[in-house]
Amino acid sequence: MALVKATRTTLSIAAAVLMAMVVAAAANKDADALSALRGGLKDPDGALNSWDPNLVDPCTWFYVTCDGDNRVIRLDLGNLKLSGPLAPELGQLERLRFLEVFDNNIQGQIPPELGGLTNLVGLDLRNNRISGPIPLALGNIQSLKFLNLSNNDLCGTIPTNGAFSNIPPSSFANNPRLHPGGKC
Ligand SMILES: *[C@@H]1O[C@H](CO)[C@@H](O)[C@H](O)[C@H]1NC(C)=O
Repeated sequence: MALVKATRTTLSIAAAVLMAMVVAAAANKDADALSALRGGLKDPDGALNSWDPNLVDPCTWFYVTCDGDNRVIRLDLGNLKLSGPLAPELGQLERLRFLEVFDNNIQGQIPPELGGLTNLVGLDLRNNRISGPIPLALGNIQSLKFLNLSNNDLCGTIPTNGAFSNIPPSSFANNPRLHPGGKC
């Protein structure tokens, strides 16, 4: 009887340890994605100095908001003088709801991988220097409600598929090379 009890206790401790490991691994995956983003950016003011990859999870980092499971749900990186590209690894932040990177000097293209963010509600990239086409994959995000890509250097045609059907024209304003039939 005592042996059974001890075995049960051992098993439930093992299960708890396993759960903790699963949670930590998921948090590390988020940290890896954020570290990839930081690695590609220029950050003249050191805004992201708190993004220490040696920490167990990224929830203590500035401008990062997590849910109760220590998973990243918001990135608020507006107006931090950041330049460089948005890392495709951002597409791995599977619980991300808001990606706010407005008023910076972000260059390069919008990674199509962002289309895999199935919980994304808001994507604000206005007032940067982002070029290339708008990925059709963003239309797959059923949760997407707020999108603003105005004041960039995007090209091609504004997509109308899926989530794009509810996004107003002002979200795309001031991208001189973005117009019907526009070529990239
Ligand atoms: C997008 O941003 C521009 C520039 O700040 C603003 O004028 C426009 O109203 C915004 N549109 C939406 C839908 O947020």
